[in-house]
Amino acid sequence: MGNRTEEEVSIIKVSSLTCIDLDNSDLHQSAVLLKQACLDSGFFYVINHGISEELKDEAFEQSKKFFALPLEEKMKVLRNEKYRGYAPFHDSLLDPKNQVRGDYKEGFTIGFEGGKDGPHGDKPFHSPNIWPNSDVLPGWRETMEKYYQEALRVCKSIARIMALALDLDVDYFNTPEMLGNPIADMVLFHYEGKSDPSKGIYACGAHSDFGMMSLLATDGVMGLQICKNKDVKPQKWEYIPSIKGAYIVNLGDLLERWSNGYFKSTLHRVLGNGQDRYSIPFFLKPSHDCIIECLPTCQSENNLPKYPAIKCSTYISQRYKAAHAHLKQT
Ligand code: OGA
Ligand code: NI
Repeated sequence: MGNRTEEEVSIIKVSSLTCIDLDNSDLHQSAVLLKQACLDSGFFYVINHGISEELKDEAFEQSKKFFALPLEEKMKVLRNEKYRGYAPFHDSLLDPKNQVRGDYKEGFTIGFEGGKDGPHGDKPFHSPNIWPNSDVLPGWRETMEKYYQEALRVCKSIARIMALALDLDVDYFNTPEMLGNPIADMVLFHYEGKSDPSKGIYACGAHSDFGMMSLLATDGVMGLQICKNKDVKPQKWEYIPSIKGAYIVNLGDLLERWSNGYFKSTLHRVLGNGQDRYSIPFFLKPSHDCIIECLPTCQSENNLPKYPAIKCSTYISQRYKAAHAHLKQT
């Protein structure tokens, strides 16, 4: 169960993060800031992203309406083998060493569908989405599809700054092969209950995200914590507050691997404080067939690639399976 005594004595404080203005036309200036944030904590805020507060609020309102439906109605859109749709409480378990049960959250996943007639339509992570009945939740699908497109657009504009921060060409990631047909999931989450680390109960267990980057919106209820250095014991957890109008962005393991460990994918978790909490992360990964091998600017004679090349879809499948492995035992 890990070392809970150490956990309990750890100091919890509120962290301040770098803020990247996506409206700043000086991309090189933004890249300097972003690089420092990626080396330091792997977390930062973005502002002036162009997603209206109205659209974001609408997505949260619709999300709340879905989770307020009777379980029977939600089970009609139970997630399929492609992880699209409704995931009930405890469906995922991200930190098996410290958690006695799956996460105290329910979710709903909407993914990238790919071109229906094109070569991407039948890829495992590009299957059709599942939608709640439009008589039950009118306008729901439309809101979510609109928000999805906006979140993807923002991620792509962050990817340009990220490329510069890695000394790559500004559009290095924004090619048809890389982000043209991404594996990208928008997940609606509803957390409940009070977490108790001393009992192994977490709203969301400690983990690092799988993909390239995650764009997170929350309803403002505190809960998200990061641990900047997972090897320092006792672990120090810091709260990341939500700022109105800003998104929280964090890097995932795939980017850490791609950058040869240069950029950090930081451990984080969610603690419930007894209040309901809603969040909408958007998880971006490159296209299925994109080969994740050490970026040209992240290796040298003295710094050889640390990880073998791997196909993006292979890597992501492995990670999804691991996060749901506990379900087979119950
Ligand atoms: C996640 C995550 C944080 C939140 O789903 O990977 O870290 O606030 N979510 O919901
Ligand atoms: Ni996460």
